[in-house]
Amino acid sequence: METMSETRKPVILSGIQPSGILTVGHLAGALNNWVKLQETFHCYYMIANMHAITVKQSPAELRQRTLETAALFLAVGIDPERSLLFIQSQVPEHSQLAWVLSSMTGFGELSRMTQFKDKSEKHPENINAGLFTYPILMASDILLYQADAVPVGEDQKQHLELTRNLAQRFNYYYSDTFKIPEPYIPNVGSRIMSLQEPTKKMSKSDENQNSLIFLNDSNEVIINKIKRSVTDSEAEVKFDETNKPGISNLMTLYHLATNATFDEIEKEFSGKGYGDFKLAVGHAVAEWLSPVREKYNTIIKDKKRLQSILIYGAEEAHKVAFRTLDKVYKKVGFIRF
Ligand code: TYM
Repeated sequence: METMSETRKPVILSGIQPSGILTVGHLAGALNNWVKLQETFHCYYMIANMHAITVKQSPAELRQRTLETAALFLAVGIDPERSLLFIQSQVPEHSQLAWVLSSMTGFGELSRMTQFKDKSEKHPENINAGLFTYPILMASDILLYQADAVPVGEDQKQHLELTRNLAQRFNYYYSDTFKIPEPYIPNVGSRIMSLQEPTKKMSKSDENQNSLIFLNDSNEVIINKIKRSVTDSEAEVKFDETNKPGISNLMTLYHLATNATFDEIEKEFSGKGYGDFKLAVGHAVAEWLSPVREKYNTIIKDKKRLQSILIYGAEEAHKVAFRTLDKVYKKVGFIRF
């Protein structure tokens, strides 16, 4: 169907693990760009449930979270008429390609992945092989669709680098097969920090709920969490990520919510205390997120629609993934009769 000479719409693929309700970090680092890129790209957006089980999950919760994640994709503005939404485990080619790529990935390469090191520290009782080979599955997700670009937050950059290396390695050994994907990382918001420990990334696995803003938090909860956020002992609203990580993080959120530049924000709050600033950020973020929450609450009720979007997405994704895997199998010498 698709030949190289046809004008091919550039392809985007990205994914999110359904391991909890998504946070404002996911919106800032990834989903905002996912929505924008729909205008010009052919987009595949995936719920990475196979990645999620590298950390212990309750099966019932994982099922529920999978649908909630899909509902949040739609609520932030992913349009199922234009973009394909699917669940990773429903397209078997992902794990099939991962096996082939795993035979081309060095133990040392995987050992250097900072996410692996962080997660091993967080879950010393469950350092499983899946957690270690996780970036290979992620590379397969991307390479199966010949993605040109991958919209992610800063923390996924290293995995993208590995993906590019694996694609180049395969192409070199076996001839040109994979497109080499570029990371697509936002200038502002690529790393939203914890509200309680602003030198750490906001992460949905954080036990302290006050450090996170969930996309379905009520306005009141959002305002309270921001009011209680950790800042510094000065009284100057100034962007300085090294010395004022808390204030800089709040300025980033305020910018994302209102579009005001950092200069404008500094001017607006010059001479005012942190109390006023936090209140303004709280209200702005609440106003930004409340339409998402409202849409989410409606969308999550229609499970049938969600299911049919995801089934269609998996069927279409499978067709593309199958074509790539078929080429790969042939090239590596897997016999076909
Ligand atoms: P995950 O599920 O941890 O996060 C999903 C996306 O959200 C971004 N993100 C953030 N951005 C800014 N600030 C934050 N605090 C923040 N927290 C999360 C992440 O950078 C990511 O873009 N391995 C991936 C999922 C995945 C994937 C893929 C991504 C599986 N296959 C293929 C791209 C392509 C992950 O664990 O993301």
